[in-house]
Amino acid sequence: MIVDSHCHLDDEKFEGDREQVIERALAAGVDTMMAIGTGGELDVAIRQAERYPFIYATIGVHPHDASKATAETYARLRDLAQHPKVLAIGEIGLDYHYDFSPRDVQRAVFDRQLEIAAFARKPIVIHTREAWDDTMAQVASLPHGGIMHCFTGDAAQAQQAVERGFHLSFGGVLTFPKAESLREAARTVPADRLLVETDCPYLAPVPYRGKRNEPAFVVETARRLAAVRGITIEEIADVTSRNFRTLCLQVPMTNS
Ligand code: NI
Repeated sequence: MIVDSHCHLDDEKFEGDREQVIERALAAGVDTMMAIGTGGELDVAIRQAERYPFIYATIGVHPHDASKATAETYARLRDLAQHPKVLAIGEIGLDYHYDFSPRDVQRAVFDRQLEIAAFARKPIVIHTREAWDDTMAQVASLPHGGIMHCFTGDAAQAQQAVERGFHLSFGGVLTFPKAESLREAARTVPADRLLVETDCPYLAPVPYRGKRNEPAFVVETARRLAAVRGITIEEIADVTSRNFRTLCLQVPMTNS
Protein backbone atom coordinates (compact mmCIF):
# COMPACT_ATOMS: atom_id res chain seq x y z
CA MET A 1 0.00 0.00 0.00
CA ILE A 2 1.33 3.39 -0.95
CA VAL A 3 0.39 7.07 -0.65
CA ASP A 4 0.26 9.54 -3.53
CA SER A 5 0.97 12.67 -1.52
CA HIS A 6 0.15 15.13 -4.31
CA CYS A 7 -2.43 14.77 -7.08
CA HIS A 8 -4.65 17.20 -8.97
CA LEU A 9 -7.76 15.06 -9.24
CA ASP A 10 -9.87 18.10 -10.07
CA ASP A 11 -7.95 18.66 -13.31
CA GLU A 12 -10.07 18.81 -16.44
CA LYS A 13 -7.91 16.05 -17.96
CA PHE A 14 -9.72 13.65 -15.60
CA GLU A 15 -13.15 14.93 -16.57
CA GLY A 16 -14.13 11.88 -18.63
CA ASP A 17 -12.84 9.02 -16.49
CA ARG A 18 -12.11 10.26 -12.96
CA GLU A 19 -13.80 7.29 -11.30
CA GLN A 20 -11.80 4.77 -13.35
CA VAL A 21 -8.59 6.68 -12.55
CA ILE A 22 -9.38 6.36 -8.84
CA GLU A 23 -10.25 2.66 -9.24
CA ARG A 24 -6.97 2.01 -11.06
CA ALA A 25 -5.09 3.71 -8.23
CA LEU A 26 -6.69 1.42 -5.65
CA ALA A 27 -6.00 -1.62 -7.84
CA ALA A 28 -2.33 -0.57 -8.02
CA GLY A 29 -2.11 -0.42 -4.22
CA VAL A 30 -2.43 3.35 -3.83
CA ASP A 31 -4.61 3.38 -0.73
CA THR A 32 -4.32 7.09 0.12
CA MET A 33 -4.31 10.18 -2.09
CA MET A 34 -3.90 13.82 -1.14
CA ALA A 35 -5.86 15.96 -3.58
CA ILE A 36 -4.53 19.47 -4.05
CA GLY A 37 -7.19 22.14 -3.71
CA THR A 38 -5.89 25.27 -5.34
CA GLY A 39 -8.52 25.55 -8.05
CA GLY A 40 -11.98 27.07 -8.33
CA GLU A 41 -13.53 28.09 -5.05
CA LEU A 42 -10.71 26.38 -3.09
CA ASP A 43 -13.00 23.55 -2.06
CA VAL A 44 -12.62 21.32 -5.15
CA ALA A 45 -10.39 18.83 -3.37
CA ILE A 46 -12.58 18.84 -0.26
CA ARG A 47 -15.54 17.76 -2.39
CA GLN A 48 -13.57 14.79 -3.69
CA ALA A 49 -12.32 13.95 -0.20
CA GLU A 50 -15.91 13.94 1.06
CA ARG A 51 -16.82 11.30 -1.53
CA TYR A 52 -13.99 8.85 -0.85
CA PRO A 53 -12.63 7.79 2.57
CA PHE A 54 -9.09 7.35 1.18
CA ILE A 55 -8.86 10.79 -0.43
CA TYR A 56 -7.70 13.77 1.63
CA ALA A 57 -7.50 17.42 0.65
CA THR A 58 -5.37 20.52 0.81
CA ILE A 59 -6.42 24.14 0.32
CA GLY A 60 -4.34 27.04 -0.83
CA VAL A 61 -3.62 29.76 -3.35
CA HIS A 62 -0.99 28.67 -5.88
CA PRO A 63 1.75 31.26 -6.49
CA HIS A 64 0.53 31.52 -10.10
CA ASP A 65 -2.78 32.88 -8.77
CA ALA A 66 -1.34 35.09 -6.05
CA SER A 67 -2.56 38.32 -7.65
CA LYS A 68 -6.17 37.06 -7.43
CA ALA A 69 -6.09 36.63 -3.62
CA THR A 70 -8.31 39.00 -1.61
CA ALA A 71 -9.30 39.44 2.03
CA GLU A 72 -12.22 37.12 1.30
CA THR A 73 -9.82 34.44 0.06
CA TYR A 74 -7.96 34.44 3.36
CA ALA A 75 -11.20 34.30 5.34
CA ARG A 76 -12.30 31.33 3.27
CA LEU A 77 -8.95 29.57 3.73
CA ARG A 78 -9.11 30.06 7.49
CA ASP A 79 -12.62 28.64 7.48
CA LEU A 80 -11.88 25.65 5.20
CA ALA A 81 -8.70 24.83 7.14
CA GLN A 82 -10.96 23.54 9.93
CA HIS A 83 -12.52 20.89 7.68
CA PRO A 84 -11.62 17.44 9.05
CA LYS A 85 -10.34 16.18 5.68
CA VAL A 86 -8.05 19.14 5.04
CA LEU A 87 -4.61 17.88 5.99
CA ALA A 88 -2.39 20.69 4.74
CA ILE A 89 -2.20 24.20 3.31
CA GLY A 90 -0.90 24.11 -0.25
CA GLU A 91 0.38 24.16 -2.72
CA ILE A 92 1.75 27.54 -1.77
CA GLY A 93 5.09 29.20 -2.39
CA LEU A 94 6.98 31.08 -5.07
CA ASP A 95 7.38 30.58 -8.80
CA TYR A 96 9.93 32.89 -10.41
CA HIS A 97 10.06 30.78 -13.56
CA TYR A 98 6.65 31.74 -14.93
CA ASP A 99 6.14 34.92 -12.87
CA PHE A 100 2.39 34.72 -13.47
CA SER A 101 1.94 36.99 -10.46
CA PRO A 102 4.39 39.77 -9.49
CA ARG A 103 7.07 38.48 -7.12
CA ASP A 104 6.28 40.88 -4.28
CA VAL A 105 2.63 39.80 -4.47
CA GLN A 106 3.66 36.12 -4.46
CA ARG A 107 5.75 36.70 -1.33
CA ALA A 108 2.94 38.57 0.44
CA VAL A 109 0.36 35.89 -0.36
CA PHE A 110 2.78 33.15 0.70
CA ASP A 111 3.29 34.94 4.03
CA ARG A 112 -0.42 35.26 4.69
CA GLN A 113 -0.88 31.55 4.04
CA LEU A 114 2.03 30.64 6.29
CA GLU A 115 0.20 32.53 9.04
CA ILE A 116 -2.99 30.60 8.31
CA ALA A 117 -1.08 27.28 8.40
CA ALA A 118 0.55 28.22 11.70
CA PHE A 119 -2.80 29.18 13.18
CA ALA A 120 -4.48 26.00 11.91
CA ARG A 121 -1.43 23.92 12.92
CA LYS A 122 -1.39 22.24 9.52
CA PRO A 123 1.71 21.37 7.53
CA ILE A 124 2.31 23.26 4.30
CA VAL A 125 2.84 21.94 0.79
CA ILE A 126 5.45 24.05 -0.96
CA HIS A 127 5.72 24.81 -4.64
CA THR A 128 9.04 26.52 -5.33
CA ARG A 129 10.61 27.11 -8.71
CA GLU A 130 13.71 29.20 -9.32
CA ALA A 131 12.99 30.81 -5.95
CA TRP A 132 14.75 28.53 -3.47
CA ASP A 133 16.50 31.13 -1.29
CA ASP A 134 13.46 33.37 -0.97
CA THR A 135 11.29 30.34 -0.17
CA MET A 136 13.62 29.13 2.57
CA ALA A 137 13.86 32.65 4.02
CA GLN A 138 10.09 32.96 4.23
CA VAL A 139 9.47 29.59 5.88
CA ALA A 140 12.03 30.40 8.58
CA SER A 141 9.22 31.87 10.71
CA LEU A 142 6.88 28.87 10.40
CA PRO A 143 6.66 26.95 13.69
CA HIS A 144 6.42 23.58 11.91
CA GLY A 145 7.41 21.91 8.64
CA GLY A 146 5.65 20.46 5.66
CA ILE A 147 6.29 19.00 2.24
CA MET A 148 8.64 20.16 -0.50
CA HIS A 149 6.39 19.11 -3.35
CA CYS A 150 8.00 17.61 -6.46
CA PHE A 151 11.46 18.23 -5.07
CA THR A 152 13.96 18.63 -7.92
CA GLY A 153 16.89 20.26 -6.11
CA ASP A 154 20.35 18.98 -5.33
CA ALA A 155 21.77 17.28 -2.23
CA ALA A 156 22.68 20.60 -0.56
CA GLN A 157 19.14 21.92 -0.94
CA ALA A 158 17.73 18.60 0.26
CA GLN A 159 19.83 18.87 3.39
CA GLN A 160 18.76 22.47 3.95
CA ALA A 161 15.09 21.49 3.70
CA VAL A 162 15.55 18.51 6.02
CA GLU A 163 17.31 20.68 8.61
CA ARG A 164 14.43 23.12 8.42
CA GLY A 165 12.02 20.25 9.24
CA PHE A 166 10.64 19.49 5.82
CA HIS A 167 9.75 16.25 4.10
CA LEU A 168 10.85 15.86 0.49
CA SER A 169 8.33 14.47 -1.94
CA PHE A 170 9.71 12.87 -5.08
CA GLY A 171 7.73 12.70 -8.30
CA GLY A 172 8.13 11.44 -11.83
CA VAL A 173 11.20 13.58 -12.51
CA LEU A 174 13.18 11.10 -10.38
CA THR A 175 12.79 8.54 -13.18
CA PHE A 176 13.97 10.82 -15.99
CA PRO A 177 17.31 9.81 -17.57
CA LYS A 178 18.96 13.19 -16.98
CA ALA A 179 17.94 13.51 -13.31
CA GLU A 180 21.18 12.08 -11.90
CA SER A 181 21.79 14.92 -9.42
CA LEU A 182 18.24 14.56 -8.15
CA ARG A 183 18.77 10.82 -7.63
CA GLU A 184 21.99 11.68 -5.79
CA ALA A 185 19.94 13.98 -3.53
CA ALA A 186 17.31 11.26 -3.04
CA ARG A 187 20.03 8.91 -1.83
CA THR A 188 21.01 11.30 0.97
CA VAL A 189 17.60 12.18 2.45
CA PRO A 190 16.88 10.57 5.85
CA ALA A 191 14.34 7.76 5.41
CA ASP A 192 11.88 9.41 7.78
CA ARG A 193 11.60 12.47 5.48
CA LEU A 194 10.78 10.68 2.22
CA LEU A 195 7.47 10.93 0.38
CA VAL A 196 6.36 10.06 -3.14
CA GLU A 197 3.79 11.74 -5.34
CA THR A 198 2.56 11.98 -8.91
CA ASP A 199 1.58 15.67 -9.30
CA CYS A 200 -0.81 14.15 -11.83
CA PRO A 201 -1.92 14.87 -14.51
CA TYR A 202 1.58 16.36 -14.99
CA LEU A 203 5.07 14.85 -15.02
CA ALA A 204 4.32 11.17 -15.59
CA PRO A 205 7.21 8.89 -14.61
CA VAL A 206 9.02 6.62 -17.05
CA PRO A 207 7.65 4.48 -18.76
CA TYR A 208 4.58 6.73 -19.04
CA ARG A 209 6.56 9.92 -19.65
CA GLY A 210 4.71 12.33 -21.92
CA LYS A 211 1.33 10.72 -21.20
CA ARG A 212 -1.31 11.92 -18.79
CA ASN A 213 -0.16 11.04 -15.30
CA GLU A 214 -2.45 9.40 -12.72
CA PRO A 215 -2.10 8.24 -9.09
CA ALA A 216 -1.52 4.57 -10.03
CA PHE A 217 1.77 5.61 -11.65
CA VAL A 218 3.26 6.64 -8.29
CA VAL A 219 4.34 3.01 -8.09
CA GLU A 220 6.94 3.65 -10.83
CA THR A 221 8.46 6.54 -8.90
CA ALA A 222 8.49 4.44 -5.73
CA ARG A 223 10.20 1.62 -7.63
CA ARG A 224 12.92 4.01 -8.81
CA LEU A 225 13.37 5.56 -5.38
CA ALA A 226 13.76 2.07 -3.91
CA ALA A 227 16.41 1.20 -6.51
CA VAL A 228 18.27 4.46 -5.86
CA ARG A 229 18.39 3.71 -2.13
CA GLY A 230 19.10 0.01 -2.52
CA ILE A 231 15.97 -1.22 -0.75
CA THR A 232 12.76 -2.92 -1.86
CA ILE A 233 9.69 -1.15 -3.20
CA GLU A 234 7.75 -2.61 -0.26
CA GLU A 235 10.13 -0.86 2.13
CA ILE A 236 9.74 2.43 0.27
CA ALA A 237 5.96 2.03 0.28
CA ASP A 238 6.01 1.34 4.03
CA VAL A 239 8.30 4.18 5.01
CA THR A 240 6.65 6.81 2.80
CA SER A 241 3.18 5.78 4.00
CA ARG A 242 4.31 5.97 7.61
CA ASN A 243 5.90 9.38 7.00
CA PHE A 244 2.74 10.70 5.42
CA ARG A 245 0.67 9.47 8.34
CA THR A 246 3.00 10.98 10.91
CA LEU A 247 3.16 14.33 9.17
CA CYS A 248 -0.39 14.78 7.93
CA LEU A 249 -2.67 12.40 9.82
CA GLN A 250 -0.90 12.02 13.16
CA VAL A 251 -3.06 8.97 13.83
CA PRO A 252 -2.99 5.49 12.31
CA MET A 253 -5.12 5.25 9.20
CA THR A 254 -8.25 3.20 9.78
CA ASN A 255 -7.57 0.89 6.84
CA SER A 256 -4.06 -0.11 7.87
NI1 NI B 1 0.93 20.29 -7.98
